[in-house]
Amino acid sequence: MIKSIDDYNNHYKSSVENPKKYWKEYANNFIWKKYPNKVLAWNFNEPDVKWFEDGKLNITENIFERNENNKDDIAIIWEPNEPDEKNKIFTYDQLFKEVCSFSNVLKKMGVKKGDRVIIYLPMIPEAAISMLACARIGAVHSVVFAGFSAKSLSDRINDCSAKVVITSDGNFRGSKVVDVKGVVDDALKSSQCVENVLTIKRTGSDVSMERGRDVWYHNQKNLVDDYCPPEEMHSEDLLFILYTSGSTGKPKGVVHTCAGYMLYTQFTFENVFQYSKGDTYWCTADVGWITGHSYIVYGPLLKGAKTIMFEGVPTYPDASRFWKIVDKYNVNQFYTAPTAIRALQSFGKQYLEGSSLKSLKVIGSVGEPINEEAWNWYNDNIGKNNCPIVDTWWQTETGGIMISPLPNIIDCKPTYATLPLPGIQPILLDNEGNEILENNIEGNLCIKYPWPSILRTTYGDHKRCKETYFSTFKGYYFTGDGAKRDDNGFYRILGRVDDVINVSGHRIGTAEVEDAINQNIEVIESAVVGFPHEIKGQGIFGFVIIKDSSEKIDYFNSIRETVNKHIGPIAKPDQILIVPGLPKTRSGKIMRRILRKIASDEFDNFGDISTLLNPEVVEEIITNYKTLNN
Ligand code: WTA
Repeated sequence: MIKSIDDYNNHYKSSVENPKKYWKEYANNFIWKKYPNKVLAWNFNEPDVKWFEDGKLNITENIFERNENNKDDIAIIWEPNEPDEKNKIFTYDQLFKEVCSFSNVLKKMGVKKGDRVIIYLPMIPEAAISMLACARIGAVHSVVFAGFSAKSLSDRINDCSAKVVITSDGNFRGSKVVDVKGVVDDALKSSQCVENVLTIKRTGSDVSMERGRDVWYHNQKNLVDDYCPPEEMHSEDLLFILYTSGSTGKPKGVVHTCAGYMLYTQFTFENVFQYSKGDTYWCTADVGWITGHSYIVYGPLLKGAKTIMFEGVPTYPDASRFWKIVDKYNVNQFYTAPTAIRALQSFGKQYLEGSSLKSLKVIGSVGEPINEEAWNWYNDNIGKNNCPIVDTWWQTETGGIMISPLPNIIDCKPTYATLPLPGIQPILLDNEGNEILENNIEGNLCIKYPWPSILRTTYGDHKRCKETYFSTFKGYYFTGDGAKRDDNGFYRILGRVDDVINVSGHRIGTAEVEDAINQNIEVIESAVVGFPHEIKGQGIFGFVIIKDSSEKIDYFNSIRETVNKHIGPIAKPDQILIVPGLPKTRSGKIMRRILRKIASDEFDNFGDISTLLNPEVVEEIITNYKTLNN
């Protein structure tokens, strides 16, 4: 573990000068079924990246068998939605048995190495257990956030031809009970590939079980053994697929493979959180996102850490819930998103009264740029000016944290993710692809050299992976983010430079929302942009052309409902403006930068609009906008 700034400098230097040696040494920390001799083969043009190609391993063996002398340590503390419901605590040994039982149930259902399994679950222990069970038997999990609609779920099921869906009878979320199983049933009306639905009892809600297809987990669990041998996996075999939105088309399945992901999640977890044995660590993400995968499940458990899983939401029963949980378990490392910080800040400081928060040593932020005000509030009120804030920049595609301060080693600076971790070689490029050598100039953030957990492909469509990440700037991985570097070499992430909106830390593609809006029968065409939003970071603004109608229609709610149905509540537009037309270039492309400006309350400096086919529409849109906002 890196312990000082000299350590960091030495690590960084050797990781760049001799990356193969650096990562090979780190690979010695793990159990291999076959020790790898080849470390790295790569080519960013294809792209084709292979780490430890000739090695064999199982990631769960590195969680359970490797940490065998710690088997009585606590692995997961599960905190339920209702504060007075009893929590669940699993030692490594208990978790191992749960994972093995789950593995055996999956095997009995005919799930084999390489089969895809969709996990559509609330934040219950089985979410982590089922992921690990897939990994144990070599099945490829694809977790779908349980807030996505039936349509989004079936798109993902079909894209990866999943054989099994794992779900529950319901989801307790704040004061609501969500019918998760019903969403699965709906999704399966348009999916032919799924043979079984494995259902976990959580809420006790009445759900319909289709004969021959739907199976209760608790019935099966009693019929199987609680030991399951680990499947031998090649380093580059698929570990999981996680769907994420891009600037065009449907969400794509980002593919991560076994060995590189294992190395890099443990490495980043231990260094970024400076986790020591006995500490209690809590990441508030949902396992439906990459943060939950890497920093609730794999990273902490590989390290043998004690990790908390929370079923509920930060504002239930009230806005003190997070802080009560921190005190209840004496949390030492706390990792959350700026949107949660801003939301809790807006409720006022009275919700902090009665919570000491004195156990905290490191507090973290992830998912979107953290504004200075939220950073200061977090620092003053949660960290009590005594805990470094790790502002961690990374992506679904990067698998693990890429740029972040190391607590008490690298200085924290509000709104800066600061320095790259060992093995990460960032570069800023201008729009023509020239390297920006000066500081304090905004550029496109790219990475020069592979790190162990870089995405390998987008499932079923390698061309898309190449076009999205490796074609804009030849020879580099392009992140889609803009960034600048200060005179200390610290990076500040400025946000997406493509058509992706970051709403409450969730990536939402504008094209995806437009497609959904256009499904509304009243709509002719739409364009969606992001705009600054006090709590969510960015909100979604839809400019919509509607059909002539003599009826009075509540377009706002009708369109939001259409989006809810097609994607899910997280993609519902915050604002909708009915417009007579959209500003388009002669080649038919919507000039989004004009709409982005208008949605941000700016009505001039649109830049070069000489290629606009219909410049007059801009004035009309501005007039409608001003009317809407008056
Ligand atoms: C944004 C989440 C600024 C960024 C781990 C990135 C951030 C996208 C930060 C990835 C940060 C993530 N500061 N922006 N610390 N962390 N982002 O795939 O735009 O859900 O490209 O992964 O979130 O989102 P994703």
